Amino acid sequence: MYTLGIETSCDETSAAVIKNGSQVLSNVISSSLKLHTKYGGIIPEIASRAQLEFINPAVCLALEKAKIKLSQIKLIAVTYGPGLGGCLMVGLMFAKGLSFAKNIPFIGVDHIKAHLYAPKLTQKIKLPFIGLVISGGHTSLFFVKDFNKITLLGRTVDDAAGEAFDKTAKILGLPYPGGPHIEKIAKKRKSNELKFSCGKLDSALNFSFSGIKTAVLYKFKSPYAATEKIKNVSKTAKADIAGAFQEAVFEDIVKKSLLACKLKKVKSLVVGGGVACNNNFREKLYAACKNYGILSYFPEKGYCMDNAAMIAGLGYQLYKKGKYSKFTLNIKPT
Ligand code: KG4
Ligand code: ZN
Repeated sequence: MYTLGIETSCDETSAAVIKNGSQVLSNVISSSLKLHTKYGGIIPEIASRAQLEFINPAVCLALEKAKIKLSQIKLIAVTYGPGLGGCLMVGLMFAKGLSFAKNIPFIGVDHIKAHLYAPKLTQKIKLPFIGLVISGGHTSLFFVKDFNKITLLGRTVDDAAGEAFDKTAKILGLPYPGGPHIEKIAKKRKSNELKFSCGKLDSALNFSFSGIKTAVLYKFKSPYAATEKIKNVSKTAKADIAGAFQEAVFEDIVKKSLLACKLKKVKSLVVGGGVACNNNFREKLYAACKNYGILSYFPEKGYCMDNAAMIAGLGYQLYKKGKYSKFTLNIKPT
């Protein structure tokens, strides 16, 4: 069975064709990231205009690359939230239009939960598992009994992990998105003297990352002078800060992920989202899981960031369980 996936929640316009829930025939990703870089973050209005421009070519190209005709598609899976309102609207309306015109059922898919499907596109994963999503917009822990039975265990109460990387990178004078740049300079850390810590919360499985970026900011005394002063900070000092920041964030995430496994008596941990690209994180989590006899699953690098293959995959699983959406389905930005 062929599923067409559509993902337009933020700056990526992605369309994919997958066979039987996991064989990816095509996964086209067009990004408007370059248009936002100079602003140091995503500008929603620019992103939604780009979605409108890219959606039709992306879907056509995905079908062409997969060598599949629209008439062979049996399901359209589309992100309906969370994400930027205008961007989500483009994808959902396109999917509805296609569904109506070609009489193909469609299903709205939750973007965060779909990140947990990314590792399943390339490897076998046994249920149940603890799902950890660490992306630019979200940091959440889930208990996944089945793909239609996903329960939220904990989430960030303020910034997402990726957002903390992006904001910290900005303070350090690094380009957007900051995650890969922080990872790169953190490798040059010389001293382990500097330590940061993440916010302490009442709920053991919730996260807080807004304080740590402020702690980085105050390393330069005045928050307002930070961008100016950073020019005079040595490369070594920047590397030490980046390394200490990354270490604190990952320690917190690893600790809470293991706790979730322990509380739910689960021996598998599945990770998704852009921050999962980070090799230092992969090594840390893998080693910690191994220590406790837990199997860890990571997405292939190409499926960490936003993509339509993971949307098609989760949509397929839900459809198999009898779920589909009606034309009354609306976007759910938060
Ligand atoms: O999953 P994604 O595309 O975004 C959302 O769905 O929200 O992930 C983007 C995020 C950005 O915040 C980016 O800085 C972060 O993933 N990221 C990383 C790395 N590569 C991307 N963070 C840390 N280390 C990396 N290597
Ligand atoms: Zn995402």
